[in-house]
Amino acid sequence: MLLENVSIASPLNKKFVTGSDFDKLDILEHQDIKILNGKIESITPTSYPKKESRWVIPAFCDPHTHLVFGGTRENEIDLRKTMGYGEVLKRGGGIYSTIKSTTECDEDTLYNESMERIVSMMHHGTAIFESKTGYGIKAEVEEKMLDVMERIERKLRVRIKKTLLAHVVPRNGNEKGYLKEFKDMIEEFRGRIDYVDVFVDDGAFSPSFAREAIQFANSLGIPGRVHLNELKNLGGVGILSGLDIVSYDHMLETNEVELDKIRGTITILPFTAINLRKSGSIFSAMKEKRKVLAMGSDLSPNTYITSFPLAISLARQLFPFTIENLINMSTLNSCYSLSLSEVAGSLHPGKEANLIVLKEGFGKIGYKFGENPIKSVIINGKVLRADRN
Ligand code: NIG
Ligand code: FE
Repeated sequence: MLLENVSIASPLNKKFVTGSDFDKLDILEHQDIKILNGKIESITPTSYPKKESRWVIPAFCDPHTHLVFGGTRENEIDLRKTMGYGEVLKRGGGIYSTIKSTTECDEDTLYNESMERIVSMMHHGTAIFESKTGYGIKAEVEEKMLDVMERIERKLRVRIKKTLLAHVVPRNGNEKGYLKEFKDMIEEFRGRIDYVDVFVDDGAFSPSFAREAIQFANSLGIPGRVHLNELKNLGGVGILSGLDIVSYDHMLETNEVELDKIRGTITILPFTAINLRKSGSIFSAMKEKRKVLAMGSDLSPNTYITSFPLAISLARQLFPFTIENLINMSTLNSCYSLSLSEVAGSLHPGKEANLIVLKEGFGKIGYKFGENPIKSVIINGKVLRADRN
C-alpha cells in the first residue's frame, strides 16, 4: 500500500520523549509512505507534490482500559454529583455493582459487548490496547475476563496487553485473605498476563497490600502498574519505592516531593480526572520535572469513553498539555509504558503501520470540539472504513 503526498506529524524516533522533545513533533511535509506486510517500509519525499496533502499521525496506544465488563452504570452519573465516587463505592455501588454484573454475565455476552467497545475504539484511532481484569475478584470470573480478552485478540489480530488487577476488597472479606487469593491468581495466570496492577486508594487497597502483591509478581518476572493517588494520597509512592512498577496511573493527589521519586511512566487519565471534578494541578509539575508522561482513556463502566480524540480534546482544553504533548503521550510514550515503543508508537520505517489519516491539520483536534477529526485508520497495514462513527 502507498499513501501518497501526506504530511507527517510523529514523535521523534526515540524510546520515549520528555523535556523539550516532549513539546515537539517530527514534521515532514509531502511524503509517500510505503506499507508492506503490516509495517512501514519507507517514507520518502513525494516526487510531484500537489499543494494539498493530508495529515497523518501515529494511531493511538491506550495503556489503561477496563475494556471487559458486564452491565452499565449510567444511573450513577447523577448520584455521584451529590455523593461522590467514594461514597457510591462504599455503599456497594460503583466497582461492586460491576463485579455483580460481570459475574452474572455469560462469556459470550461479555465478549460481544467488549467487542463492540474495542471496535469503536479502533474506529476512533486506537491501535494498541492494555486491558485489565478486576471486575471478577474471584479467580474463575477473573479468568472469564482473560478468556474474553484472548478471544478478542485472536479475532481482531490487535495487541492487547493484559493486566491482572486487584480492584477492591471483596464485600465480606478482608485484605489479608484476599492477598493470598490474589497471589494464587498471579501464579495461576502467569504466562497469560503481562502486568499486575493494584487500585491503591481510600475504599480500595492499602499501599502495603500493593507492595506485597507487586513484590510477588516481580519475583515471577511480572512488572507492576498501579492505580495510585486517584481519590486520596495514602503514602503509596514511598511505600512502593524500589519495586518494578512500569506505570503510575492517575496520580492526581501526588505531591511534588513524591514526583521526584517516581521512576516509571506516569499515565494520566483526563476523562476520569474531570469525572472526579479534580483540577489536575499537579500536571504542570509533572511536565516541568520531565517525567515520562503517557495518557490513557480509562474506559470503564464509570468513564465510558471509546473516543481517544475526545479524551485528547478534553485534556487540551482543561489541562496544561499542548496538542504536541498529547500526541506524544498517547502514541510513543504510551507504547513505552507497554514495552512496545521500539516496534510501534511513531512513524518511522520498520515500525508497525498503525496510523491515522486526519481530515485536517492535527492542530484541529480539540478545537473543533466533539467533531471526529479522523478520515481513516490503518492498523497493522489494514485500512478501517472511514465512514463509520
Ligand atoms: O481507573 N480506580 C479504579 N478503577 C477505575 C474505575 C473503575 C470503576 O469505577 O468501575 C479507574 O478509575
Ligand atoms: Fe482504571
